[in-house]
Amino acid sequence: MTERLLAPPPATVSPRPRRGAGRVAWLVMALGSLAIVAFAAVPYFTASLPQLAGEEVGLASHYAGQPAFVQVALYAHIVGAAVALMLGPLQFWRGLRERRPRVHRWTGRVYLSGVAIGGLAGLVIAPFGAAGLVGLFGFGALGVLWLVTAWRAYRSIRRRDVAAHQSWMIRNYALTYAAVTLRLWLPFLLVVQIPFGAFEFDAAFANAYAVVPFLCWLPNLVVAEWLIRRRGLPSYRLTPAGLSPRT
Ligand code: HEM
Repeated sequence: MTERLLAPPPATVSPRPRRGAGRVAWLVMALGSLAIVAFAAVPYFTASLPQLAGEEVGLASHYAGQPAFVQVALYAHIVGAAVALMLGPLQFWRGLRERRPRVHRWTGRVYLSGVAIGGLAGLVIAPFGAAGLVGLFGFGALGVLWLVTAWRAYRSIRRRDVAAHQSWMIRNYALTYAAVTLRLWLPFLLVVQIPFGAFEFDAAFANAYAVVPFLCWLPNLVVAEWLIRRRGLPSYRLTPAGLSPRT
């Protein structure tokens, strides 16, 4: 099987205006991103790591004992990634793109800078993460794909290939959104363990954390590819080796 990127259709903005369901989906996406920034990212800036560790905030107890450069990378990661998570929905707002293209361009540059800082810092902390080897590979792969898709989105718009830019931005934000889906998967994975024998929180959490570094982003990419096809944007397809890609 060979993976091929289809030749893009004519460079246009997506053809259909956003209506009812699309607006609701956009709103849910925007509120989800703001909620995660408020509840997962902001608390890290309310006290020092040792203090937060005492209050059992996020993974503070794990990072309080890490070398200084890992702690610096953790903060850089949280700031860069949170900026990207918050700005992402603005970039998909058609009204803003069409009426204020300069704003779209500038928020886009800040978004991509957030991904660059958050992604590189994420790669620094991945080997020191709380999820061990599975975290290193799961979050590591996420970090690499996050940076690569951001770079492709940037390169395509520099070539004025709007359709390819939209595809890459959809993929990229689907990966950014792993921060939200991770925090939805975790409670779900805890709850589904309750019926199976004596429930012990630490063991259940360790079980959940063993799959979540991959589960938080792989389904997002599938949804992204579905959205890309639905909008008629250039998508990845698996085609048998030797066959020409469909156009
Ligand atoms: C999409 C690419 C991302 C990658 C590769 C990534 C990577 C990581 C890694 C490796 C950790 C350490 C996890 C551990 O110790 O087990 C982490 C923690 C964290 N990340 Fe990300 N991350 C990404 C996106 C985001 C986004 C968009 C946010 C936005 C809020 C975010 C916020 C955080 C926070 C707050 C932590 C600290 C742990 C916690 O309290 O949950 N990350 N990230």
